[in-house]
Amino acid sequence: MTEALLQVRALETAYGASQVLFGIDLDVRAGETIGLLGRNGMGKTTLVRSIFGLARSRGGSIRFDGRELIGLSPDRIARNGLALVPEGRQVFPNLSVHEHLTAFAARRGAGGEPWTAPRIYELFPRLAERRANMGNQLSGGEQQMLAIGRALVTNPRLLILDEATEGLAPLIREEIWRCLRQLREAGQTILVIDKYVHRLVDIADRQLIVERGRIAWSGSSAELDADRSLWSRYSRLRPGSGCADPAGHAGLAGIQAGRTRQARLRGPAGTA
Ligand SMILES: Nc1ncnc2c1ncn2[C@@H]1O[C@H](COP(=O)(O)OP(=O)(O)OP(=O)(O)O)[C@@H](O)[C@H]1O
Ligand SMILES: [Mg+2]
Repeated sequence: MTEALLQVRALETAYGASQVLFGIDLDVRAGETIGLLGRNGMGKTTLVRSIFGLARSRGGSIRFDGRELIGLSPDRIARNGLALVPEGRQVFPNLSVHEHLTAFAARRGAGGEPWTAPRIYELFPRLAERRANMGNQLSGGEQQMLAIGRALVTNPRLLILDEATEGLAPLIREEIWRCLRQLREAGQTILVIDKYVHRLVDIADRQLIVERGRIAWSGSSAELDADRSLWSRYSRLRPGSGCADPAGHAGLAGIQAGRTRQARLRGPAGTA
């Protein structure tokens, strides 16, 4: 079998003396959509930061299209064809929507029609209306659409989204899921971290659950859908916990209430 587009093996990452990832294995094949789940603080963002060279790994390997990424700068890693929609969005307050969508554009021979600002405006008409607005004049949902657009105009071979629906109103969340479904149907390879298990099950081919820095479970979306004990074991979903979405799908966002992300937000990165 040919090597996966992204192949992570025995990955170990620590922040100083505090080890967070303990031997992560992950394969993402071209054209696949993979869901990554897990409770707060289990290491999902650290895995993503490791892939993008934003957290230093001290063991294992991260190969993308056969090339080792560990040791490369975040900029070099992005130029290999990876794009990140980071946790917390991280749009630039002093750049306009249109500037975001043109400053990061890169034509890549990934096949198909390249993503450009006009195509992003078709995908998210709200952004077209806001094209002259600065990043700090956008609603949370608009910022999230912009973060996705900014990642797409680099025409990535692999798109990674870290909790792109977090903190958004239900209708806006649905717009993000619609966009991901469309991207998937167009053949985009996607790794998506989210807490809305039902939506992940709908959209992804395979799922992985991270628990304390290890892959605790992996399987098909159908297997995850069929085994609700996994949901409660690894995500503490409680029926009636007050995190239902408009389609009646339970979600996990509610368990994050009261948690502040701002402390962990760092400068814009990984999208250039
Ligand atoms: N910059 C940092 N320095 C030190 N520890 C960190 C840092 N970032 C994260 N951690 C710790 O690493 C662990 C994993 O955090 P991480 O952000 O990867 O989890 P996560 O699965 O993405 O959680 P969430 O669902 O809340 O986004 C946590 O214990 C967290 O406190
Ligand atoms: Mg995270």
